[in-house]
Amino acid sequence: MKKLIIACFLFISLSGFGQKFEGMAPTPPMGWNSWNHFGCNVNEKIIREVADAIAVNGMKEAGYIYINIDDCWHGERDSLGFIQPNPEHFPSGMKVLADYVHSKGLKLGIYSDAGWKTCAGHLGSRGYEYQDALTYASWGIDYLKYDWCNTEGLKAEGAYLTMRDALYKAGRPLVFSLCEWGNDKPWEWGAEVGHLWRTTGDIYPCFDCIIDHGTWKQWGVEQILDQQDGLRKYAGPDHWNDADMMEIGNGMSVNEDRAHFSMWCMLASPLIAGNDIRYMLDETRNILLNKEAIAINQDTIGIQGFRYYSNDDLELWFKPLSGGDWAICFLNRDEEMKTVDFIWTDWYVKDDLNKLVIDLINEEYRIRNIWTHKDAGTTQKPLQIELPGHDVLMLRLTPVKK
Ligand code: GLA
Repeated sequence: MKKLIIACFLFISLSGFGQKFEGMAPTPPMGWNSWNHFGCNVNEKIIREVADAIAVNGMKEAGYIYINIDDCWHGERDSLGFIQPNPEHFPSGMKVLADYVHSKGLKLGIYSDAGWKTCAGHLGSRGYEYQDALTYASWGIDYLKYDWCNTEGLKAEGAYLTMRDALYKAGRPLVFSLCEWGNDKPWEWGAEVGHLWRTTGDIYPCFDCIIDHGTWKQWGVEQILDQQDGLRKYAGPDHWNDADMMEIGNGMSVNEDRAHFSMWCMLASPLIAGNDIRYMLDETRNILLNKEAIAINQDTIGIQGFRYYSNDDLELWFKPLSGGDWAICFLNRDEEMKTVDFIWTDWYVKDDLNKLVIDLINEEYRIRNIWTHKDAGTTQKPLQIELPGHDVLMLRLTPVKK
């Protein structure tokens, strides 16, 4: 009996901290974040209007359920140290806002920083982790993005563990998003800590560019893609590589937006829209709401895709899906149109990591075009197409003998 009591005590005290909330992100999280479009000009009116729009424009049904407020929502700490939202921009307070977002069947996310200050210079959580975690729980927050500015002298893993434990102790299950930019290889330790981790510095709405700010850089879609090499083995259900919030609808061409979205789907990256979804064009909506592409991203087997072949700016990516299906994506990185001549029956592709094979030499597959939403014959017939610059041909293959 005594041993049982000690064992129970040990179990309760050990499980009281030292873990993340399991099962919060069985598939890559989907939602919207304020930063890419609004930066610091975020307020409760925008958040309410975005929630209103997402609830009725098809996005909620498609899976975009997190409405995430990024940097700059902060006011001061009160006399007891509790963080307050900026009273001018969030006059109703976060609890009221969370209740509103919840009433739409959506979830609310917030942002903080492991350092003294956030990247935009607002109050960070350093030294206030447990208090902030309690505050977020009392507001009804469902997702925390935790940034890495102003952290001189801190070790990333330890700092993120502290917040993980604080959140767990606060007791409200939420998604914990590590935004450490890949500096300290979060993929090596992140699965125990949170549900997703940024793999790179910040995205910029261009397909192929690097914006150099001196002490830091922003990256185009192709540049972010290349920084995912070697990382797929770390991703899976409840622990995802995060290629950053999307820039669809923020100034790239339709081809580029389509390619950007397709590659985020192939990577099993979180799908966090970053545009002003209150006023988006139909062409933007059609990309964000492509359910066949989303199904590839959200496939429950949770395997990140891989670049299998690359030649002269033409790449071929594969992603195993559940039930023996495969997603395949031809990506034209060049600005010029390219001819794709592809004899399916020449190919036998192995995903060594997962011991999965697509044997196109011996097995016939039905082809579904993900962007035209049309069936496109089988792999018996060679493929020949003209692929425009900065665009993709994304297909889903299903074994004929299924
Ligand atoms: C960092 C993050 C961005 C954004 C800004 C906010 O740069 O990587 O995603 O959150 O901070 O200041």
